[in-house]
Amino acid sequence: MFSAKLFERLKHAYSIAILTGAGISAESGVPTFRGKDGLWNNHDVKQLATTKTLKDNPELFWEFYHWRRKILLDVAPNLGHYALVDMEKYFKDFSLITQNVDNLHFQAGSKSVYELHGNIMKTVCTSCDYKISEKAGSSVKKGIPKCPKCGEIMRPGIILFGDSLPEQTLQKAQEASAGCEVFLSIGTSGLVEPAATLPYIAKGNGAYLVEINKEKTPLSDSADEVILGESGKILPMLFINIEKLK
Ligand code: OAD
Ligand code: ZN
Repeated sequence: MFSAKLFERLKHAYSIAILTGAGISAESGVPTFRGKDGLWNNHDVKQLATTKTLKDNPELFWEFYHWRRKILLDVAPNLGHYALVDMEKYFKDFSLITQNVDNLHFQAGSKSVYELHGNIMKTVCTSCDYKISEKAGSSVKKGIPKCPKCGEIMRPGIILFGDSLPEQTLQKAQEASAGCEVFLSIGTSGLVEPAATLPYIAKGNGAYLVEINKEKTPLSDSADEVILGESGKILPMLFINIEKLK
């Protein structure tokens, strides 16, 4: 399943960067965006997940996000998330970058995560700087939340279509990608920018690029190694090998 070359690179690597997408949470029961059981098959998310819908139809907007939060309140991290927590101590420089808004890396115990697309359990004011943190945010379960400070409508703390990404987080993710020796792209279709470029930044700067996915993606041809299968099974096995190598 893993090549001798990967083990060689991991053995000597002190820096690793990891990019995760919806696929890492699929085995927890969180729907992915695209593909057979993808969220987008039933919802016109590109219309819904916008500041325009929040403004024009806040009931529908919030109904969708309450529904997504409810799914997340009933799920738990899987062995893939936990393997990444365990892996951290074997690398001096360990960067976990995620496109997921589901909070599951934190729930598993990862201390530092670059959340490129935000966190759905946070609730933030559209007008002032008032925020409800992820844990408290999960108690906002119905209706259209209004800011207790200024009275304006609130939104989930995630990137909506048309928003730009948090600049500092993106910059750190790009630096981590440029500086790592091994880069793992896990459970992402690699179709959404700017996250999709991170593996290429890594490879362009000499990293060994590994893709872990249930199926091939546009990145596969550029990867040094593609491991096909479920991340909840592959990552624990990879961890066991890292433990032996280091
Ligand atoms: P996608 O739904 O586009 O892709 C999920 C990927 O996970 C696919 O390539 C699947 O083959 C793979 N996959 C599914 N189950 C898996 C498993 N058990 N193990 C390994 N791989 C598995 O999700 P993302 O690439 O994360 O952005 O989508 C990127 C962004 O698109 C999301 O963050 C979201 C959306 O627009 C925002 O909401 C801002
Ligand atoms: Zn406010």
